[in-house]
Amino acid sequence: MDWGMENRLSKTIKPDGRAFYLAMDHGYFQGVPAGLENAGAAAKPLLKYVDAVFMPRGSIRATLDPRMETPLILRVSGGNSMVGDDLSHENLSVSMTEIIRLNAAAVGYSVYVGSKYEHQTILGLAKLVDECQIYGIPVMAVTAVGREEESKTARYLGLAARVCAEQGADVVKTYYCDDFDKVVAGCPVPVVIAGGPRTENDLEVLEFVYNGIQAGAIGVNLGRNIWKNDSPEGMARALQAVIHENKTPKEAFEIYESMKNA
Ligand code: 5RP
Repeated sequence: MDWGMENRLSKTIKPDGRAFYLAMDHGYFQGVPAGLENAGAAAKPLLKYVDAVFMPRGSIRATLDPRMETPLILRVSGGNSMVGDDLSHENLSVSMTEIIRLNAAAVGYSVYVGSKYEHQTILGLAKLVDECQIYGIPVMAVTAVGREEESKTARYLGLAARVCAEQGADVVKTYYCDDFDKVVAGCPVPVVIAGGPRTENDLEVLEFVYNGIQAGAIGVNLGRNIWKNDSPEGMARALQAVIHENKTPKEAFEIYESMKNA
């Protein structure tokens, strides 16, 4: 592996092999979610707990302080919205020049396996990997957006993750599901878990993240279950404890509660 690629990867996958990404790229498929009206303001108190922030370039430039130390994962696909003809009608939307200008430690790109525009999104990933390999920039493939609920099976997510890894993604983001170890076993690159809609109770988040890590995931790319929480800081700190300190869900929940009630 070239020095630049290894250096960037080391910023987003920590020495313990684990990763905690804060996802704030939801506008186009969620509208303006409560808690994310100003992404930079929402991110600011959480930056000390996470290993990277995942955002689109407009939000980065408009709302984040360029002097921040937390690495950026830049969303580089788009062209669609929640009210368009089909959410899967997405494509590469950011140039390599922009990726480098924004000093991205990695990029994130969505692939819609099993959807109408599957073909263009898979080939777009392949093209992105070709370019990013030249400049030593890791690619995180994002699977199953918009299909969080109906497609949470190891068979579907395992296929989606495998397709992305075969096209050269360095990290794959997918949802947690039953038999998650099968998803990880079939994916030859590191897997991070997304959260989907906010869970009914807060312990549940810590449990699925813990279980996902036990099943082989290296960490999370998590959004709504952090910034929609009543205590985003408490949840971020508790997740950090599960991901990097091997705390059990119960132990982490105690951390969450003590911060929430402080
Ligand atoms: C959307 C994404 C999100 O970053 C990902 O789904 C994580 O967010 P959440 O935990 O809210 O699902 O990739 O394109």
